[in-house]
Amino acid sequence: MKKVKLGVLVSGRGSNLQTIIDNIENGNLAAEVAVVISDQADAYALERARKYDIAAVQLSAKGYRAKREEYDALLVGELRKYGVELVCLAGFMRIITPVLIKAYPNRVMNIHPALLPAFPGLHVQKAALEHGVKFSGCTVHFVDEGMDTGPIIIQAVVPVLDADTEDSLSGRILTQEHKIYSRAIQLYAEGRLKVEGRRVMIRDGKTSADEFLINP
Ligand code: GRF
Repeated sequence: MKKVKLGVLVSGRGSNLQTIIDNIENGNLAAEVAVVISDQADAYALERARKYDIAAVQLSAKGYRAKREEYDALLVGELRKYGVELVCLAGFMRIITPVLIKAYPNRVMNIHPALLPAFPGLHVQKAALEHGVKFSGCTVHFVDEGMDTGPIIIQAVVPVLDADTEDSLSGRILTQEHKIYSRAIQLYAEGRLKVEGRRVMIRDGKTSADEFLINP
């Protein structure tokens, strides 16, 4: 199978990037990380990329605070330079603009640590605990022009336990993030994702609900 060229955008530790790399290495993901781009020079994710001889680009956002479109145009330039076909946001702490989305329509994915549309934005595990929900989880979705609003590809559900802290809940969710992000990318690589309005259909085979029901 042809390998999908990924551009992974990061800002921090890069554990999702690491699992994507691991799944590629062990043959579970028909993809290649063509480039990792960070807006933060000290992102550990860049080091992870370098260890595997993956191009690691730091694109500082300094001076682009009010010029998000210009920053995204630079991003698009880098992504194209590396022949990127699918853009994966993995802890990228910037709001992206239509410049990136129009360059990669339905080809930008994001992982979010809550069951969207509940708890979009930041500090969502804390928000879930404070709200008192009994289940939370994570969502892989295509990115559109809103904040965490794009069509949902896969979700995984985890219970919220009485003893949970923000850390323990985040950890339980992160374990599932690592599973479903690679799974969503693999479905894309197999050409099995079909976007119909807000719904993402998975062609042939099991639906995501069969595989990712509830994870203790
Ligand atoms: C993850 O919780 C992801 O859902 C969110 O940012 C975090 C990134 O973690 N968007 P990592 O850098 O992949 O370890």
